[in-house]
Amino acid sequence: MTTSEPAATLDNLLAEDRTFPPPDGFAATANVTAEAYRRATEDPEAYWAEQARRLSWATEWTDVLDWTDAPHARWFVGGELNVAYNCVDRHVESGNGERVAIHWEGEPGDTRTITYAQLQDEVCRTANALTSLGLQAGDRVAIYLPMVPEAVFAMLACARLGLPHSVVFGGFSAEALRTRIADAQAQVVITADGQYRRGSAAPLKSAVDEAVADRDSPVRSVVVVRRTGIDVSWTDKDVWWHDLVDGQSTEHTLQAFPSEHPLFILYTSGTTGKPKGILHTSGGYLTQAAYTHWAVFDLKPETDVYWCTADIGWVTGHSYIVYGPLANGATEVIYEGTPNTPHEGRHWDIVDKYGVSIYYTAPTLIRTFMKWGSEIPGRYRLDSLRVLGSVGEPINPEAWMWYRQTIGRDRCPIVDTWWQTETGAIMISPLPGVTATKPGSAMTPLPGISAAVVNDDGVRVGPGGGGYLVLDRPWPGMLRTIWGDDQRFVDTYWSRFAAQGYYFAGDGAKYDTDGALWLLGRVDDVMNVSGHRISTTEVESALVAHPSVAEAAVVGASDEMTGQGIVAFVILRGDAAAKVQTDGQSGADLVSELRKHVGTQIGPIARPRQIMIVQELPKTRSGKIMRRLLRDVAEHRDLGDVTTLQDSSVMELITTGLASGK
Ligand code: WT7
Repeated sequence: MTTSEPAATLDNLLAEDRTFPPPDGFAATANVTAEAYRRATEDPEAYWAEQARRLSWATEWTDVLDWTDAPHARWFVGGELNVAYNCVDRHVESGNGERVAIHWEGEPGDTRTITYAQLQDEVCRTANALTSLGLQAGDRVAIYLPMVPEAVFAMLACARLGLPHSVVFGGFSAEALRTRIADAQAQVVITADGQYRRGSAAPLKSAVDEAVADRDSPVRSVVVVRRTGIDVSWTDKDVWWHDLVDGQSTEHTLQAFPSEHPLFILYTSGTTGKPKGILHTSGGYLTQAAYTHWAVFDLKPETDVYWCTADIGWVTGHSYIVYGPLANGATEVIYEGTPNTPHEGRHWDIVDKYGVSIYYTAPTLIRTFMKWGSEIPGRYRLDSLRVLGSVGEPINPEAWMWYRQTIGRDRCPIVDTWWQTETGAIMISPLPGVTATKPGSAMTPLPGISAAVVNDDGVRVGPGGGGYLVLDRPWPGMLRTIWGDDQRFVDTYWSRFAAQGYYFAGDGAKYDTDGALWLLGRVDDVMNVSGHRISTTEVESALVAHPSVAEAAVVGASDEMTGQGIVAFVILRGDAAAKVQTDGQSGADLVSELRKHVGTQIGPIARPRQIMIVQELPKTRSGKIMRRLLRDVAEHRDLGDVTTLQDSSVMELITTGLASGK
């Protein structure tokens, strides 16, 4: 959904008056009750200090929050801890070593069960291996792996050693990996020979070979997990994971790091072509990840089986597969593959097989399940489920209702969780034992979190009002800066409402008359495709990098399945344009070549759904591309006022060109 959505749709949404209170009995045993909101409002810092005590600190903090250098926050100042110790060792020490940490399910059907005691051994071995490569606290490690247990071992080993990791999604291209490695100056890359996708083995290491080939690459070593057994080429930087890690000792002496020691960098798209390296640190981040995982999902670590279907390449995987659940001593499922391999009931098969009780997924997948048909989940028991979560984009009320009825069997509360890579952890969400939910609304900020909706001038709007979502108080999991570009951090998030000191989230939002929040999608040039953030500029830059393209404009058009789909308008260079005009086939060939080109430059997720070859682009008199008009074209809407156009005949040219199939 975009903010250009016709008002009628919005009004329909806000007229949603169905509410679903917590099921009978749920509230009575819930981890959090309404009283938490009161306490947190009275004294937020005291509330967060209480939450920080969920963790084991080597040294207690002296100040909960130092905001004197705003917008640069320091949380739990003076405190020291080891993040990996909190996620692993302490559970073994407290007698839960035999508890299953991870039920891992490979796409081909192979499985691995890993207890907390075994996890401790694996993380210690991996930490010793990384030390043997000469890495020291503060050095960066890139992780480019499929959803295999080694991804978790690697992240936790980095955390244990104070090595900030930069996980790069396995679906990103060699070029995307190269720029991320260069930006963070990572010295080591951890990867796999290949990865299983839709039933077959696809190469992965070959992309690393390409990404580290430059003579000036900072990468010294590439550690390779053997996952698929496919052939790989080998260089003298490469070492097999099993050769490096398996022989290492399971003893590893811990070191505590300051609360503000960097934990990871994770790249996300902004409004320019260059992805931003979002920096998260240790104590505050882990506090909020652990607290929200416990509160929002009502986690009972002794009995629940939790499953988050995200990939560790995204922040959801960081906070709700690795750090949150493991800090809480949860038992979780990690599934390697695609949801329709070998059949469209794979997820429900896994839910029944492991007795999954908490299931956390994305609206785009829920809509896909709807398309596949209710009879598929209908064949499974699904009676172990008790809480359902959603994240990544606004969830449409129909999808919400389907999720509740068909998967939750009208029995499970749904938590629609709003947050961002930058916020580190969940910010706005119902609490399953407290909140009466409305289909499509993320409801209210969590206890300890404060948000507001403001107008263009930064003035707060009340119930029924709409505008921009802002966060008006610091929170423990907040990003600390953009790696290597602190000015961009200040400009991007803190300059729009600098006078008020608010964090600008980049999302439109509206309050209904009950004061519940409805998130309305991005207000900047960032698209949301299947819950993944991709900037229009990033795709435009990729297109313009192709020799046949002179100019490109990209918009996100609403898409029934993926939320938004990428639609590109390109103007060709002289030669290419002449060829296309005389020969229809070369136009079609070029379009498919351009789609492939974007896939290689960024990754398959950024491949445009549609590319239209045009002669002109609509621009304002000041030369800015009018994306609103292009979005209207892409969504087949009537064009509104085009009088601010530099040349209003341009739109006619584009639309008639479209009609004639160019
Ligand atoms: C953007 C953040 C948070 C992890 C996954 C995405 C959108 C996310 C919701 C939701 C409406 C949502 C926002 C946000 N978004 N969750 N529950 N309702 N919109 O992380 O890639 O950093 O993207 O995703 O637009 O700004 P991300």
